[in-house]
Amino acid sequence: MIDRVTIERIMDAAEIVDLIQDFVTLKKRGVNYVGLCPFHNEKTPSFTVSPSKGIYKCFGCGNGGNVVNFIKEHEHLSYPEALKFLAGKYSIEIVEKELTAEEVEQKNQRESMLVLTKFAANKFHENLFKHQEGISVGLSYFKERGFRHEILKEFDVGYCLEQKDSLTKAALQSGYKLDYLVQTGLTIKKENFTFDRFSGRVIFPIHSLSGQVIGFGARTLKKDTQAAKYVNSPESDIYQKRRVLYGIFQAKKRIVSEENCFLVEGYTDVLALHQAGIHNVVASSGTSLTEEQIRFIKRFTPNITILFDGDEAGIKASLRGIDLILEEGLNIKVILLPQGEDPDSCSRKLSNTEFKEFLSKEAIDFIRFKTNLLLKDAGNDPVKRSNLIREVVKSIAAIPESINRSVYMKECSTLLKVDEGILYSEANKIRTKRAEQRYRRIKGEEDEIREKPQQKHQPLFQETTDVQEREIIRLLLMYGNMDLLEIYSDDEEESKTLTVTEFVINEITDDELEFDHPVYRQFFEEIQYIQDQDSEIEEKYFINHQDQAISDMATDLLSPVPEMSKIWSKHESFIETEDMKLKEIIPEILIAFKNKKIMITIRKIQEELKKAQEQNNIEEIENLQTRYIMLNDLKKKLSKDLGERIIL
Ligand code: CTP
Ligand code: MN
Repeated sequence: MIDRVTIERIMDAAEIVDLIQDFVTLKKRGVNYVGLCPFHNEKTPSFTVSPSKGIYKCFGCGNGGNVVNFIKEHEHLSYPEALKFLAGKYSIEIVEKELTAEEVEQKNQRESMLVLTKFAANKFHENLFKHQEGISVGLSYFKERGFRHEILKEFDVGYCLEQKDSLTKAALQSGYKLDYLVQTGLTIKKENFTFDRFSGRVIFPIHSLSGQVIGFGARTLKKDTQAAKYVNSPESDIYQKRRVLYGIFQAKKRIVSEENCFLVEGYTDVLALHQAGIHNVVASSGTSLTEEQIRFIKRFTPNITILFDGDEAGIKASLRGIDLILEEGLNIKVILLPQGEDPDSCSRKLSNTEFKEFLSKEAIDFIRFKTNLLLKDAGNDPVKRSNLIREVVKSIAAIPESINRSVYMKECSTLLKVDEGILYSEANKIRTKRAEQRYRRIKGEEDEIREKPQQKHQPLFQETTDVQEREIIRLLLMYGNMDLLEIYSDDEEESKTLTVTEFVINEITDDELEFDHPVYRQFFEEIQYIQDQDSEIEEKYFINHQDQAISDMATDLLSPVPEMSKIWSKHESFIETEDMKLKEIIPEILIAFKNKKIMITIRKIQEELKKAQEQNNIEEIENLQTRYIMLNDLKKKLSKDLGERIIL
C-alpha cells in the first residue's frame, strides 16, 4: 500500500499538461489546453485539459479525471500501478505503507503463487514446442485444428505431459513449495502421493488484466472417455472464476480502439477469432456473465457484441443474464451463428474479410432480437403474448438511460402492436420496484454504518446536509441545462438568461458554501467544471462515470420516483410535472440547504456555549452569543431575501 503522503507528493509533482503532452498534442485555448482525445476516435478536438484544476475531460466520450486517472485509463493500469508509473516518471520514492504481519503473509502468499503459475505456464509452453510428447500429441492436435504457431505463442498455450507428476516433480526440483502447488491447484495431494491435475491435457493459461498467469483451463485430447472435456484451476487467492475473462489481457487495447468487445464462450473461440484478425474478443468460459466481468468490459467500452451458437433453447436460457448487462448501461448487439456452428468453426469457413463482413452484417440490437425471437413463439396466444410483453419490457426497464429507453419503447410498441403508454406504465412499475429495492439496500447499509457511533447518544438532529445536497444534485442532473430565469438590465447587452446550473452555482459559490458528502461534492465540482467549459450536463456522462460511486449515485438519482409514473398515464388530462415548477423548487431547495448549514453551525455554537458556561469563561460566552445572534439574523434574512428573488 502506498501511503497518503507519497500519493500527495506524486500528485503535486505530476503537472497535468506536461504529463498529457507525452501522449497527446495539446494546443492552448484560453486558460485551458485542447487536443484530440486519445480515448476515442475524433476529428475535432474535444479533449480539454485544465492546468489550474489539474484535470482533463473529453466532452466527446466523457472520459475525465486527474493525472492518475489519465495514466490508469491510457495505460490500462490499476490505481496503485498508475501511481507507481507516475512516481517513476517524477523520481519520487515510493514508501509503501507498513503492512500488518497478516497482510505481509497474504501478499507473500499471492506473490509466491503467481511466480509458480508463471513457472508452470512456461513449462507447459515449452513442452508443447520442445518436448517430443508435447509435439506429437499437443502441437499436432492444434495443427490439425488449424491453429497457427503465432497464435499459440501469443496465448502462451501449452501441454501437460501424460506422466502423472511431471510438473509437480519439476516444480519441486526448482525449489517451489508443495504447499503452493496445492494452493494453485496445479497439484492434487492425496494421503500418500501427489499428482498433476492437468496431465495429458492441452493448457490455456488464463491471464489477469495486467498479464499475470492466474489460472489454467485444460482440455482433454481423448475422445470417448469419462473425463471432463475441460478441467479448470480451482478457486484460490489468485483465481476467482467470477472475475475472470479469458483473453482480456490480449484484447484490451483493441477493445478500446475498436470501441466494441466481442463475447464468445470458449477458449478456442477466442483463439480462432484472433487468427481471423478479430482481436477485440473475450470468453466468458462457458457460464453466463457475472457483474464483475461486465464491469471489467465496461472499463474499456460501453459496447458488447455477443456471439450466440445457434441453439434456440440455449439462447433463451441466456436471455435473462443479459438484462444484467443492460443494467450496467452497456449497449448490446447479438449475432446468431448458423445452426451447429460456433465462432471457431464459423470463422474457419470464411475468409477473414468475409467473416468480418458477416459479423458486421449479422449484428442486431439485443432488444430487437429478443422481441423477434419471442414473437415467433407467441403467435396469437394472448397469455403467451402478455408474457412476451412483460419479458421485453423487463429488458427495456433495465436500461439506465431514459433517452435510450424511450427509443426502444417506440420501436417495441410497433413490433408488438401494443400502445406505448402501456409499455411505459409496465416499465415504470419494474423500475420503481428496482429503485426501491436498491434504495432499501443502500439505506440498510448506511444505517448499519451510522448506527454504531450513534448508539451512545442518539442525536435528535441530523448533523448533515446530505438530503439537501442529494436533491440539488438530482435537480442539476435532470434539469441543469434548462433556462430558469431572465435577468433584465437597462443595458440590453447585460440582460441574460440563467440556466438552472448557472443559478445554483451562483447561489452556492456566492455564499462560499460547500457540500459535505464526498460523492455529492465531487458531483458538484464536476458540474462546475462542465459549466466553466460552457458545456451541457449529460446524464450519460455521469451514469458512465469511471468512479463507481458517482456512476451508482447518478443511476440512483435518475431512476424515476414513484410520483413520476403519473406522467405516463394517458387518461389524466394534464398533470403539472416537476420541470414546470423549477422556479419554485430550485430556490426552495437552496433555502433548505443554506438553512440547514446555518442550523448546524448554530447547534455547534450552542454546545460550545454550554461548555463555556460550565467553565465560566465569560469572554468566550460573549463571543459565542454574538455569533449566535448574528447567525439567527442571517437565517431570517436569508429566507426573506431568497423568497423575494424567486417571484420574478
Ligand atoms: N467449459 C468448462 N468445462 C467443461 C466444458 C466447457 O469449463 N467441462 C468451458 C470452457 O471455458 C470452454 C467453454 O466452456 O472453453 C465452452 O465449451 P465448449 O464449447 O464445449 O468448448 P470449446 O471452447 O468450444 O472447445 P473445443 O472447440 O475444443 O470443443
Ligand atoms: Mn469449439
